[in-house]
Amino acid sequence: MELARATGASLTKDPLDLPELRANVVLEAAGVDAAKEYVIPLLEADVDVVVMSVGALVDAAFRRRVTETARRVRRRVYVPSGGIAALDGIRAAALGSITQVTLTSRKAPESLRGAPFLQEHQIDIDAIRRSTVLFEGPAAEAIRGFPANVNVAVAVGLAVGDPGQVRVRVIAEPGLKEVVQELEVRGDFGELRLTMRNQRSRENPRTSVMSAFSALAVLRRIVSPIQIA
Ligand SMILES: NC(=O)c1ccc[n+]([C@@H]2O[C@H](COP(=O)([O-])OP(=O)(O)OC[C@H]3O[C@@H](n4cnc5c(N)ncnc54)[C@H](O)[C@@H]3O)[C@@H](O)[C@H]2O)c1
Repeated sequence: MELARATGASLTKDPLDLPELRANVVLEAAGVDAAKEYVIPLLEADVDVVVMSVGALVDAAFRRRVTETARRVRRRVYVPSGGIAALDGIRAAALGSITQVTLTSRKAPESLRGAPFLQEHQIDIDAIRRSTVLFEGPAAEAIRGFPANVNVAVAVGLAVGDPGQVRVRVIAEPGLKEVVQELEVRGDFGELRLTMRNQRSRENPRTSVMSAFSALAVLRRIVSPIQIA
């Protein structure tokens, strides 16, 4: 509300009001359920959508419906790189065969608070005293267990062309200041190894500064005359 007042922007609590407010692009940063609810109606209302809750797109049936709708109404869905990089290279590498994609996410336990996986397995994150592998498995399972934490695994999977190819490890590391993402991709192209040490957002410890930058970078890219692929 304060931001709307300061900038003179329109304010609504209903995302479906946005097309009427003449938005060209809607940036979703609300959650997987909200993404699943609003992306298709927004496309149909003739706006492009930037989806931060990329986990919504791990569901192949939903992804297909989004793709068909966007194609039919000639609108676009943009997936930001979030807390990872090199999606451009991975997209190119995926033109050949990819044999391995592994993402290891290291976070301070408190960054994982509220994750359904912890509840299901009755894990008390406040009791974690040393580096602990909490989860190891496919991206689709990882996003169900940690919907607010492993979006980057799905973004990598979409760049590869198949989120099913991504193996994820989630490690809780007490005292870790940054959010660390380690990515390894192997295939016909050779090998890619990447480590990102992302600063956590001061306002929201579940996310990184880089994720916010990546959302803004997508918006900037949409209006940029030169597209850096
Ligand atoms: N792609 C990435 O790398 C990346 C990075 C960070 C966060 N995310 C994702 O972005 C989403 C938001 O993350 P966050 O940490 O800011 O979450 P948050 O819980 O702090 O904020 C979500 C906000 O959305 C609002 N909201 C929820 N459902 C809504 C609905 N149906 N209609 C309107 N508003 C609704 C909530 O009231 C809240 O203000 C999450 O899904 C998270 O996983 C993605």
